[in-house]
Amino acid sequence: MDSDNRNRQIGRRGFLAAAGAGASALAGLTAGTARAATPDPAITEVQDWARSLGDGVAVRPYGNPSSFEKHVVRRDVEWLTASRESSVSFTPLHDLDGIITPSGLCFERHHSGIAEIDPQKHRLMVHGMVERQMVYTMSDLKRFPGRANRVYFLECAANSGMEWRGAQLNGCQFTHGMIHNVMYTGLPLKTLLDHCGVRTAGKWLLAEGGDASLMTRSIPLDKAMRDCMVAWAMNGEALRPEQGYPLRLLVPGWEGNMWIKWLRRIEIGDQPWHQREETSKYTDLLADGRARRFTWIMDAKSVVTTPSPQAPLAGKGPQVLSGLAWSGRGAIKRVDVTFDGGRNWRQARIDGPSLPLSLTRFYAEFDWAGEELLIQSRAIDDTGYVQPTKEELRQVRGVNSIYHNNGIQTWLVRGDGQAENVEIS
Ligand code: MTE
Ligand code: CO
Repeated sequence: MDSDNRNRQIGRRGFLAAAGAGASALAGLTAGTARAATPDPAITEVQDWARSLGDGVAVRPYGNPSSFEKHVVRRDVEWLTASRESSVSFTPLHDLDGIITPSGLCFERHHSGIAEIDPQKHRLMVHGMVERQMVYTMSDLKRFPGRANRVYFLECAANSGMEWRGAQLNGCQFTHGMIHNVMYTGLPLKTLLDHCGVRTAGKWLLAEGGDASLMTRSIPLDKAMRDCMVAWAMNGEALRPEQGYPLRLLVPGWEGNMWIKWLRRIEIGDQPWHQREETSKYTDLLADGRARRFTWIMDAKSVVTTPSPQAPLAGKGPQVLSGLAWSGRGAIKRVDVTFDGGRNWRQARIDGPSLPLSLTRFYAEFDWAGEELLIQSRAIDDTGYVQPTKEELRQVRGVNSIYHNNGIQTWLVRGDGQAENVEIS
């Protein structure tokens, strides 16, 4: 990103209120219908693809998206990290709909690149304060009773981390794309821990990955027993190597760093280990120099995915605003949207399942006459938690943090339909 993409500020003054927002969309639809009256070669002439036979079945043994969808890809931000092996790519949220992230588009965060693990050779060891130390093969795990399917979001704690000091990255792929939401298949971690018999003194769990970084995180035992899982499948097929094939840990609603990929070892202990990822990283430096630690839960958050900088408005008339909301504390109960920078709010329409600890999809239909818009969304979860503004967040947290920025995002939509990441001062 260029420096001129940083620190966009916009004043309320001079902003034209979005009077048309929310008005009837029927006028635009009528105009669209009139266009169909002129002869259109796409209708009146035989198209190339209808002149010959297409590829037969099994010519594409594993299907890919249409060649016209080549722009729908993960992207990275060059200046964010020094090497590809320890880097991050972002989910193209602006090009997706519904709540499930296609497996090949899930953002990736690796500390030592993608481990390519032979599932026959992979083992999961459980040891420490247990009655029976165990080493499981993948086939052992798949023969356990109690297999479960769950949809969960995974959000990196650093998602939106570049925005603490002002609007910076121009696109929801970059500001909010360190998140994905898939259906996992695996075993509740409790099933395995009960099989090993956790000793009474055991209160913490250490999870370790099998990649070269040997990533390790401490997790309190009550969370592990409540809803953590070991998963071998996502969206109905084996995990992708990028997501931890053949086995990853799920820590629903909690920061993505704890979701250890290529999971190889679980140790039970009586206190946290204070590894690198829970001391020098994944703590939140406050204004007074103290740091918050063990900030595991991802608080309620939302983002408008269209319109957004990578998904501008195509023209005046009827529009479908679309976005995503989620909460690490439960299900999303309500999402509000504003078109005038927070002066007026209206309730968005949630469609599709509103599962706990999962992405939820919302829409708001509106009519656009070409006026400038300041679009925001605000998520409210079923605990009553309301997504804060960035300013409210800064008052409590200062601006030294990287992690846990769940402030309300603003997109400025200009008269030509282009959108930009801004903050309202
Ligand atoms: N596990 C291992 N073994 N190695 C890693 O580098 N990165 C962590 C976590 N688990 C990581 C890991 C971080 S910081 C995040 S945000 C998530 O995995 C990213 O998961 P994803 O690549 O499926 O998006
Ligand atoms: Co992360």
